Amino acid sequence: MSKVKNLKLAKEGARELEWARINMPVLAKIRKDFEKTKPFKGITIGVALHLEKKTGILLETLAAGGAEIAATSCNPLTTDDRVAAALAGKMNVFAWAGETNKAYYDNMDTVLDYKPELVIDDGCDLIFALHTKRRNQLKTVLGGAEETTTGIIRLKSMEAEGELKFPVIAVNDAYSKYLFDNRFGTAQSTIDALMRATNKLLAGKTVVVTGFGWCGRGIAERMRGLGANVVVVEVGDRLNENGPSGYHKALEALYYGFRVMTMEQAAKIGDIFITATGDKQVIAGKHFSAMKNGAILANAGHFNVEIDEPALRKISRNKRTINTNIEQYELKSGKKIYLLSEGRLVNLARPTGQGHPIEIMDGSFGIQALSLKYVLEGKLAPGVHKVPAKIDDWVAKLALESQGVKIGKLSPQQKKYLESWREGT
Ligand code: NAI
Repeated sequence: MSKVKNLKLAKEGARELEWARINMPVLAKIRKDFEKTKPFKGITIGVALHLEKKTGILLETLAAGGAEIAATSCNPLTTDDRVAAALAGKMNVFAWAGETNKAYYDNMDTVLDYKPELVIDDGCDLIFALHTKRRNQLKTVLGGAEETTTGIIRLKSMEAEGELKFPVIAVNDAYSKYLFDNRFGTAQSTIDALMRATNKLLAGKTVVVTGFGWCGRGIAERMRGLGANVVVVEVGDRLNENGPSGYHKALEALYYGFRVMTMEQAAKIGDIFITATGDKQVIAGKHFSAMKNGAILANAGHFNVEIDEPALRKISRNKRTINTNIEQYELKSGKKIYLLSEGRLVNLARPTGQGHPIEIMDGSFGIQALSLKYVLEGKLAPGVHKVPAKIDDWVAKLALESQGVKIGKLSPQQKKYLESWREGT
């Protein structure tokens, strides 16, 4: 059973899927193996991922491995209705672009009605629903995989409080994921969506990138490549002991050659603002008031809380839709500010957001597919688990090889030298 916007779009969706399939060699290889070994035979997989063509190929791959799939989107704006229609014939799909918040959560509930033994999540909403209103289903869930930074932050807090009741693989934290997906994927797709929505020139504009994490640094670098004057906004706080703090990120940004400042300072000079922090109210009331007339705001972070839209609405005397992806807010002062895609993930919000480039998602979803098999075989304890290095390396190697790139190996002498503390010189 499925519930999608329009089944008549299936033919067009099938063509979209075909183009993705041609360009996803990592998943093709995994699919070949899954077809033979059927690792998911008899298993239902509940999925909440942006439902577009690359996700479609992941779902096909899992189905080829014997899984029954029940899928919805992890964001109300990001479903490609053509792809959803094409998939609806082959699996259970409950999603459409522009669904209401209620429909979004209802669709998630419907996916859970299939009693999945494995789950794939992007942002942790599905796993959260299982741990709150569907606790009775927890004992039948064998494990899951989480796609994004924000989801992993939520899962780690659940784990710290002893609340996470099954093993979840932190797909985002694999090198084959975040080094490429968060950095190069978010950069290209965010800028692509911004250009499609606004048709504006980026060269010469002051672009304020908020958050110099993996997503932010990609956006900043690519924006500079297009001739933008990039300003980076960071904060000094440290939420955990692992990894660099915001001070390190800000210093890195400075040494990359970007101007670094507070949002209070940046608000006055920016032409375009892009948030990529995973945090809330990163651009808030006083910032809007300080902005130039015509400022454009977009968010690339997971949830639509980074740009404080309710606060923007509050100080506006008028709000109107320019096109599907642009809303104009006229402040009481007469100044106009433009918000893209309701402050939701700009690079995925339809129709201008197409999501990451195909090759990037081939790597990310290669990790997803193999992580799900690993969690099924792994007999892992409840908690957040790393992607094994073997899987991580295999996906990167295959991605290189499929692009015709070969690299060398250490000689036995080099390996010994690098592993030994005795061989100093
Ligand atoms: P990250 O943890 O590498 O970087 C976040 C950065 O934001 C950190 O450097 C942190 O110090 C900074 N930050 C936090 N609060 C801030 C504030 N109030 N002002 C300025 N800076 C602040 O995270 P990553 O991987 O870059 O992800 C960022 C967000 O993007 C997450 O929500 C993630 O889920 C999402 N994401 C979105 C993708 C997309 O397709 N649009 C793809 C991958 C991740």
